[in-house]
Amino acid sequence: MTATLTRPLSVTDAIETRRSIRKFVQEPMNEADLREILRLASLAPSAWNAQTWRFAVIQTPEVKEKLREAAYGQGQVTSAPAVIVLYSDMEDTLQTVEDTAHPGMGDEGRSRQRATFDGAFGAQDVAQRGQWGLSQANIAFGFLMLAARGLGYDTVPMLGFDPAKVREILGLPEHVQFAGMLPIGKRAEEGFPHHRHSVDRLARFY
Ligand SMILES: Cc1cc2nc3c(=O)[nH]c(=O)nc-3n(C[C@H](O)[C@H](O)[C@H](O)COP(=O)(O)O)c2cc1C
Repeated sequence: MTATLTRPLSVTDAIETRRSIRKFVQEPMNEADLREILRLASLAPSAWNAQTWRFAVIQTPEVKEKLREAAYGQGQVTSAPAVIVLYSDMEDTLQTVEDTAHPGMGDEGRSRQRATFDGAFGAQDVAQRGQWGLSQANIAFGFLMLAARGLGYDTVPMLGFDPAKVREILGLPEHVQFAGMLPIGKRAEEGFPHHRHSVDRLARFY
């Protein structure tokens, strides 16, 4: 399958037209688009280029059904043709940290990357550094939603689920932390227009 949209939306249009969608057209995701959305999300920045995020992509109806139960019965999980669970795995990040050093920095860069991470996280416990990993993964979660919209897809970010159950369903280790669950597909409803604080309410200019 090739990608479906030849002209991606501009960043501005993707932001303006993204809204939470909970009813989806009943057709499978285009695989090329799905992979491209994941690739674009993985271009998100992270401190020291740690890239703590990992993706679980679920398209099997039985697994989606289990996830829906773990999400307190929220129907969007099974309405969507695919669900992307974005989680951070800080322990895997630490084990493979040399791979995140830019190749241009050579062997010296790889050793420096190891020393940086050992220095920053070696003395922290798994939960503490897991929290740091999650703060990086949240950036990719934002990119993921906009990458999807940019290619003509709709999503709804979700944290309304039991993390222990989702870990069990997906066979993920205890230490991983969830940025969120993201049902994805084509919209079969309009969703709600944006309702947001004004910039004047939110911003101070110095
Ligand atoms: C981190 C996060 C968790 C959310 N969890 C849920 C959820 O479990 N179920 C749901 O229906 N919507 C969930 N939402 C969607 C929000 O309700 C929605 O983004 C917000 O009301 C703004 O609406 P909009 O996305 O259409 O602009 C979540 C959103 C975020 C960012």
